Amino acid sequence: MIKVENLSKSFGGKKVLKDVALEVNEGEVVAIIGPSGSGKSTLLRSLNLLEEPEAGTIEVGDVKVNVSELTSKNRYQLRQQSAMVFQHFNLFKNKTVLENVTLSLTSSKRKTKSEAIQIADELLEQVGLLEQRSQYPVTLSGGQQQRVSIARALAVEPKVIFMDEPTSALDPELVGEVLKTIEQLSKRNITLVIVTHEMKFAKKVADKIIFMDAGVIVESGTPDKLFSQPNSERTRRFLMSTMEDTTLDFVI
Ligand SMILES: Nc1ncnc2c1ncn2[C@@H]1O[C@H](COP(=O)(O)OP(=O)(O)OP(=O)(O)O)[C@@H](O)[C@H]1O
Ligand SMILES: [Mg+2]
Repeated sequence: MIKVENLSKSFGGKKVLKDVALEVNEGEVVAIIGPSGSGKSTLLRSLNLLEEPEAGTIEVGDVKVNVSELTSKNRYQLRQQSAMVFQHFNLFKNKTVLENVTLSLTSSKRKTKSEAIQIADELLEQVGLLEQRSQYPVTLSGGQQQRVSIARALAVEPKVIFMDEPTSALDPELVGEVLKTIEQLSKRNITLVIVTHEMKFAKKVADKIIFMDAGVIVESGTPDKLFSQPNSERTRRFLMSTMEDTTLDFVI
């Protein structure tokens, strides 16, 4: 579903992605973990060209682009393959919950208004927010707003959904409801790539974990393998610094 090769990106002369390669299969849930500044967001944002890398090829769904040959057409086509869930929700504040979900359906997906409303209502029901459909985002909790943004991402039936720290802007008591919603998605054969600091969640929900450090993918593997027998000393050190000792199998 995703294939990335030789991806490089710099900011002001500093390389933040160094020749990154990545593959994600259809229906897979992939969690990207790593220290702050390691390039996780830049990688995710590069996959839908919110950041434009200098070099590399990106294939998502049916569309493959070489980033040094971007045109407005192939950039648009690549973006159509995915949807993004942001840390700070990024809902339209002047639109209701329902309108936030129907907007892309009536604009880019060319659904009629009544078709769009029907799809949106189904999705809002799935994320437990049908009753709030006429409210404005400001009247919702952070967890509810994030669930609206997940419904909005699902609405366009993307090949893959990217999530960049979907729970890190939430009050601790609201994290659980959003993780639960994501866990439900993960069981529906939807391809998900999630940058997260929620290690227990990653361990439970992801099929594959990618550990990034200093602009490179240091290692990737199943949660079982990566959390119990990391290959790299860097991975081991990162896990020990972020997780409770008791959740790590290699800590005696
Ligand atoms: N728009 C930008 N302009 C300049 N430098 C940037 C920009 N965005 C990111 N960087 C730099 O690129 C590097 C990687 O940043 P990135 O946001 O991808 O890290 P991250 O792994 O997502 O970190 P965090 O866990 O803190 O979100 C950092 O050194 C950061 O300062
Ligand atoms: Mg980030």
